[in-house]
Amino acid sequence: MRHIMVLNAKGGCGKSTIATNIAVFFARDGHNTCIADYDPQRSSVDWLALRPADLPAISAVPAYEEGIRNVPRGTDVLVIDAPARVRGSELNELVRRAETIIVPVLPSAIDIKACGYFMAELLEIGKVSRKQARLGIIANRVRENTLIFEELDQYLAHLKVPYLGSLREAQNYVRAYARGMGVLELPEYLAWPDWKQWEPILAWLGSKRSQP
Ligand SMILES: Nc1ncnc2c1ncn2[C@@H]1O[C@H](COP(=O)(O)OP(=O)(O)OP(=O)(O)O)[C@@H](O)[C@H]1O
Ligand SMILES: [Mg+2]
Repeated sequence: MRHIMVLNAKGGCGKSTIATNIAVFFARDGHNTCIADYDPQRSSVDWLALRPADLPAISAVPAYEEGIRNVPRGTDVLVIDAPARVRGSELNELVRRAETIIVPVLPSAIDIKACGYFMAELLEIGKVSRKQARLGIIANRVRENTLIFEELDQYLAHLKVPYLGSLREAQNYVRAYARGMGVLELPEYLAWPDWKQWEPILAWLGSKRSQP
């Protein structure tokens, strides 16, 4: 079973949004997919409750309560939605659970600064430094042609961690979440710019580069 975690100590950067969209990608690709929600806010569990029955099935476990022992047998891909503000030993514990870690970052001065501290902490964790877990970064809620996005873009391009791509700020994410869907499941005429932005991220997830 693959374990893909969406993680950043910063709140509100899009962890749950990205985790649910990744789960949709694997489910549509025919994999038995489960979301482990480590956040007592239950964003992923609540999202799944809204999912229409005619779309590819995804399961979820409230991992903040019971860990991942109840992940259904036969699960191929476990997408882990991490809570905000994890640090220290709790962060170590979480990182032990994944071989692939995606870190979303917002284009804001505060988030860029916080990302620096968080990446420093993450890169010191043994599992990450030994490359037993692969990291990738995504810029999220991006507005093209803004100075702050250019700053974030430059910053991420110079980190020693793969910069997988950026996702625009779009109501499609809000709309999809509210329906238990991913942007890949919205109509093409609405969501094609988002589909395009997911391509390099999904290619990385589908490649050996995202696995130790
Ligand atoms: N690309 C996007 N475009 C527009 N809105 C977005 C986008 N990504 C996330 N959002 C919105 O930003 C808010 C925070 O996103 P989300 O809940 O996914 O973040 P989070 O990191 O899981 O937050 P928390 O730290 O509280 O768990 C939500 O209202 C979500 O709909
Ligand atoms: Mg969340």
